[in-house]
Formats: sequence, C-alpha cells, structure tokens
Amino acid sequence: MGKVILGMTMSLDGFVNDQDGSVGALYSDLDTLRDTEPMRESIRNTGAVVMGRNAFAMAEDPDSYAGNYEYQVPVFVLTHQPPKRPPKETDALTFTFVTGGIESAIGQAKVAAGDKDVTVIGAASTSQQCLKAGLADELHIDIMPVFLGGGLRLFEDIDPVPPRLERIKVMELPGGRIHLRFHILKQEKGDSVKTTASKNKADSSGPSESDFPKISQPALRALTGAGIQRLEQLTKFSEAEIKQLHGMGPKALGQLGQALADRGLSFANKRGD
Ligand SMILES: NC(=O)c1ccc[n+]([C@@H]2O[C@H](COP(=O)([O-])OP(=O)(O)OC[C@H]3O[C@@H](n4cnc5c(N)ncnc54)[C@H](OP(=O)(O)O)[C@@H]3O)[C@@H](O)[C@H]2O)c1
Repeated sequence: MGKVILGMTMSLDGFVNDQDGSVGALYSDLDTLRDTEPMRESIRNTGAVVMGRNAFAMAEDPDSYAGNYEYQVPVFVLTHQPPKRPPKETDALTFTFVTGGIESAIGQAKVAAGDKDVTVIGAASTSQQCLKAGLADELHIDIMPVFLGGGLRLFEDIDPVPPRLERIKVMELPGGRIHLRFHILKQEKGDSVKTTASKNKADSSGPSESDFPKISQPALRALTGAGIQRLEQLTKFSEAEIKQLHGMGPKALGQLGQALADRGLSFANKRGD
C-alpha cells in the first residue's frame, strides 16, 4: 500500500493563500513547476487525490478537471453537500464526493490508489484534519519566498498533539521555490515514535535488525527511505554517497562499514576497483 502525502505550497510566513483567497503568488512559477522532478514524481506516484470542497471549487469550471488536471486519477472531495450536477469524468479521473469525514475519504482513496500514493491537496482544513487524525505519512511542502501577510495558515490548528517530523529531503527548485519532505512520525500505544517505513518493516519484507545490526533507528529509516532494504545493497554505493544519504552521521557510517566488513563486503570505493 502506498503512502498518504500532504502536498502544498506555502509562503515564507506560512500561508497557503492570500487574504483574497488567491494562490497566484504561490504558483507564479506554475509552468516551470510542472517540469520539476518532485512534481513529475508526484504525478507518477499518485494513485488517488483527496481535497476539500473549497480546493475543488478553485477551478472556475469543475468540468475542466477532466483531461486537464495534473492528477488524472480518482479524486475524493470532502463535503457536506455533493454538487447537484456531478462534474465531467474520464476513464482515469473520477469524482467521489465524500460526506463521511476525513477517515472515510482517505480510506476510500487508499483503496482506489492500490499500491500508489494518496495525495492530499494543499488546502488548510483538509490537511489539518488529516494531520490531527494521524492519517498522513509524509509532508511535502514547497516554500515560495514571498510574504503574504495574511490568509489561510496551514498549521493554524493542529493541536492538541502536533506531529513530530523527520526530514527526508530538501531541494532548491527553479524560481526560488524550496521543496521540503518530512516523514510524519507516528506515536503508537506503549511504543516509541515510528515512521511508516519502520512500521512496514515489522509488517512485511522491509529491512530487519539482522540486515543492519546495531544501526540506529534514524539511520535505518534514512536507508529505508532511500529504498535500501538489505545490507548487500550498500555495496553499490560509495561511502561518500551513503554519508550524503539524509546526512548519515559518522557513527552510523562506521557501524554500516563494520557490518559490511563482518560479511566480507565493503562500500564501492573501498574495493580498490
Ligand atoms: N497553497 C496550496 O498549495 C493550495 C492548494 C490548494 C488550495 N489552496 C487554498 O486553500 C483554499 C481552501 O482551503 P480550505 O481550508 O478553505 O478548505 P478545503 O479543505 O479545501 O475545504 C473545506 C471545505 O471542505 C468541506 N469539508 C472539509 N472537511 C469536511 C468534513 N470533515 N466533512 C464534510 N465536509 C468537509 C467543507 O465544505 P462544504 O461544507 O461546503 O461541503 C469545508 O468548508 C483554497 O481556496 C485555496 O485558496 C492552497
């Protein structure tokens, strides 16, 4: 099953639209943005979209989603009252208006997405509900270097327990945009904080303690986040590459090097080839 990703763009002072409700200043680079790797990756990996009624209403003509919207996938719109006339759909893009709340919307979207991700589109209310209900696995936030001075504040209402985060990635994009990714750490009953990645480890075929003996949980999560499930996969990388991976520290690096050496293996740059 894929991840649930909250994706949005906000101003440097934390707003997702301005006082007039416009997102223009946050998407002044829209044409360039469509060609960036994070956006292409998001479109590739998204199997279903969840949005609130207000975000849905941003399109002047709701029929324009079909064939034009970036995400041509099933879309689930949270609302108290579905529109009288359903918008136009295609084989790929369908609309489901969900009146049963955020858990129902995310649950239905996960089923529709299958192995792909569910992307929750930017708007404040829907994102906040998702965070508060502990339904999101990752935050993908783009910061635009503008001050809006007012508008909807994305993280206005995430009490009582704001989530703890772990950085996955920071990227500079054209036009001054900065792309940030975080795992949302999940608190489980009587347990320490876990990411979805480390939780999946227990559930399925993810990395195990025996694959990465003695390595700390943050370092293990960094490897998992990069798709490295087995110690042997490390031999494809140089020590410098592993170091770069999410800021892997010298202790973790040393432990990985030792674990490889114990098995007669080494990082790529230590083989002398
Ligand atoms: N910066 C970005 O990346 C970005 C992206 C998208 C949007 N935006 C901005 O965000 C604005 C929208 O944000 P928003 O916080 O106002 O709203 P939103 O989350 O898009 O929509 C809120 C509306 O969705 C419905 N809804 C939400 N939760 C519900 C629930 N649990 N059960 C039933 N219905 C529910 C309600 O509509 P009804 O009661 O009317 O049915 C509610 O008024 C847009 O206008 C746009 O300016 C920014």
